[in-house]
Amino acid sequence: MTEGSESEGDVVRRDRFSGGPARGFLSSLAADERIFAADLAVDRAHVVMLAEQGIVGDDEAAAILSALDDVESAGFDALPEGEDVHAAIETAVVSRAGDVGGKMHTARSRNDEVATCIRYRLREDVLAAVEATVALREALAEVAEDHVDTVMPGYTHLQPAQPTTVAHYLLSYEQAVARDTARLFDAYARVNRSPLGAAAFAGTPFDVDRERTAELLGFDGVVSNSMDAVSTRDFLVEVVAALANLATTVSGLAEDLVGFSKDGVVELSDDYSSTSSIMPQKKNPDTLELVRATAGDAAAGLNGLLTTLKGLPRAYNRDLQTATPHAWESVDAVTEAVEVAAGAVATATWDEAALAEAAGEGFSTATGVADLLAMQGIPFRTAHELVAEAAEEGDDYAALDAAAEEVLGDSLSAYVEREAVEAALDPAASVAARDSAGGPAPDAVAGRLSAVEDSLAADADALATERDALASADEKRRAEVSQFD
Ligand code: ARG
Repeated sequence: MTEGSESEGDVVRRDRFSGGPARGFLSSLAADERIFAADLAVDRAHVVMLAEQGIVGDDEAAAILSALDDVESAGFDALPEGEDVHAAIETAVVSRAGDVGGKMHTARSRNDEVATCIRYRLREDVLAAVEATVALREALAEVAEDHVDTVMPGYTHLQPAQPTTVAHYLLSYEQAVARDTARLFDAYARVNRSPLGAAAFAGTPFDVDRERTAELLGFDGVVSNSMDAVSTRDFLVEVVAALANLATTVSGLAEDLVGFSKDGVVELSDDYSSTSSIMPQKKNPDTLELVRATAGDAAAGLNGLLTTLKGLPRAYNRDLQTATPHAWESVDAVTEAVEVAAGAVATATWDEAALAEAAGEGFSTATGVADLLAMQGIPFRTAHELVAEAAEEGDDYAALDAAAEEVLGDSLSAYVEREAVEAALDPAASVAARDSAGGPAPDAVAGRLSAVEDSLAADADALATERDALASADEKRRAEVSQFD
């Protein structure tokens, strides 16, 4: 912070309430670094609009805009002390432009200003999170493509349950993360609205053009009611909830991969592994453990945010200042974890032979045999009993035949050809038989893969469209600002 500014305080406080032991406690300046660029953009859009509306003169706007350029070039660290980035930038503008700089804050309040800055900045962060989900889904789909026929054990209660394929398993996460992408896009649409022009909460007598500032900042319209515009942080809750949901899904993937690497059926690349400081032979899946733990941080962020917001009266309360960092922390942590998960998935190796061997363990084909018997007209419940009876003795044809004598009073061959039973006992054939829609049979999964590719392309397009919209708004604002040179 600039020397000597300490005793003066910012232009908002002057010599009133500017000192005192709570000075640091009140200040959000350090946390506001995140919205430094956003605040400069918001200031510029506001000043351009004030000039267009004749609320400030063109020369006055030019002086303010040029001071803002200087503030930007000097950088965040050169800002004078202030209660927050808004006050500090205004102080810096006034010290460069003189009293006319004081016109910048006409027809607005820090309440609409900060809400606009948060939304402005959060948009790029949400889009980065969306990008991470798309990258993870691409990694899952690409590995799945190579393993449509790779049979693996599927579990319930962590017990071998039914054989499936690596592709079917990975696409189960692709589908879940696709919903996270959709939830983030959905939240984005509501983040992308401008509160600017709401002033403190009660509007302004100046003839402001709220749609114009929204347009110059690339927002998709305004948050209409001025009291709602400054009060609400529900857009933060939506984003953080979507992130917590995403992190929870990805924690399951991480947990599975930790388990698979323990079982020796998946090997993580060295890049995503860690070693022990004492045990020389160790290769540990630490990255995935940290990915798994991120769900805890995300849930904590959501809880912190909701608890801070609960019961806040209308309209603005300073509690809101502490709500914001929960969103920054969540979006950073979850985006990074999802990127790491994508890298780990893309570079891991699946041991096809070990997976094939494990796929048949624990009589995992039992359900398929019961299904086969039921397809011959034996009631499923009876077939279930027969196979359960066999399972007491073994997992082969002989055990099933003996159970058939016991349960049906006849040999198994009276109902079904031995060959069909042997096939049902084979994990790969068992998987191939389960070709119902969305099932693991290679035919069913191959059909899904092309749908997955289409949805990935559509989401990547939607992401590019949103980013282009932001970039062209930036360009438009720059062009408008340069008219004042
Ligand atoms: N730093 C404040 C925040 O993050 C800005 C708004 C201050 N408004 C006020 N009325 N004190 O919420």
